[in-house]
Amino acid sequence: MNILTVTPNPSLDRTYEVPDLARGEVLRATGERVDPGGKGVNVSRAVAAAGHHTVAVMPLGGAPGALVAELLAGQGIDVAPVPVAGPTRSNIAVAEPDGTLTKINAPGPQLSAAESELLLDTVTEHSGRADWIACCGSLPRGLTPQWYADLVARAHAAGAKVALDTSGPSLIAALRERPDVVKPNAEELAQAVGRPLATIGDAVKAAEEVRELGAGTVLASLGADGQLLVGASGTYFASAPVALVRSNVGAGDASLAGFLAAGGEGPGALAAAVAHGAAAVQLPGSVMPTPADLDPAAVTVTDAVPLDRPLTEPAS
Ligand SMILES: Nc1ncnc2c1ncn2[C@@H]1O[C@H](COP(=O)(O)OP(=O)(O)OP(=O)(O)O)[C@@H](O)[C@H]1O
Ligand SMILES: [Mg+2]
Repeated sequence: MNILTVTPNPSLDRTYEVPDLARGEVLRATGERVDPGGKGVNVSRAVAAAGHHTVAVMPLGGAPGALVAELLAGQGIDVAPVPVAGPTRSNIAVAEPDGTLTKINAPGPQLSAAESELLLDTVTEHSGRADWIACCGSLPRGLTPQWYADLVARAHAAGAKVALDTSGPSLIAALRERPDVVKPNAEELAQAVGRPLATIGDAVKAAEEVRELGAGTVLASLGADGQLLVGASGTYFASAPVALVRSNVGAGDASLAGFLAAGGEGPGALAAAVAHGAAAVQLPGSVMPTPADLDPAAVTVTDAVPLDRPLTEPAS
């Protein structure tokens, strides 16, 4: 399996551990770490952790961009960098002992028209060798909402399958180009159809509507409730019990990686997605699970979808 990921707005994530986050004070950090960040980057990290080959395409600029490339290379991930003039953004997270995480996300550089085109060209260049192209996250300034649609069209022309994990206008625009998989969470699904979701049945209806808009398969992640697969092979629901949630950051990205590495369709791939999501939330920060962290036997998959079950976190 060879999975190409695209992260249009990557980041250098700096996390400071502090005893207590007091506004207006000088805080002394007791710990500090630096990680490469971005949703496509997370998918690549999870794919690599599963022992598959991955190439991560992303615009990189300035000293933070060079450090992102260096950190990813250190994790055994091939990076296909697209050099851009603006420096890659640095995001700051402040972690308190009780697990509270306060984040400041920078907007990131504005990409020029030429840089936007070069990013598309770089994805196309690597498309032929990829089983899947996973396009993840929001778009940086300078990329129009049509950008993911163009990417899907180009990837299909090159014979690659595309999984898209984004939201808002860029998701809606891309559906017209028929992405093979989309992975909304409950909020993103509600936003795509323009109405709130209160039950699993509401999520099924919304996912069916997103398929009518052009998606081949909808893998909807419903937080603590599990995941829903609505595709050509039918509709399935899967979940796994989790004893203690340590961090849900990147759980959706781990799920998508598990789903694609398991083939990207059908109940078996759904089970892999849930196994990865359940493992990811039991690991700290955005640490991605390795095969040793997975408990596939704990996952239940059913085509008797519990339509009337209320969502633990209803989406508005
Ligand atoms: N509180 C939880 N308890 C158990 N499992 C969870 C919990 N939160 C998430 N998961 C697992 O992780 C999967 C993905 O989580 P979620 O739906 O929150 O994705 P997401 O919002 O796309 O996350 P992100 O974009 O931060 O990666 C869920 O479908 C589920 O399998
Ligand atoms: Mg997500």
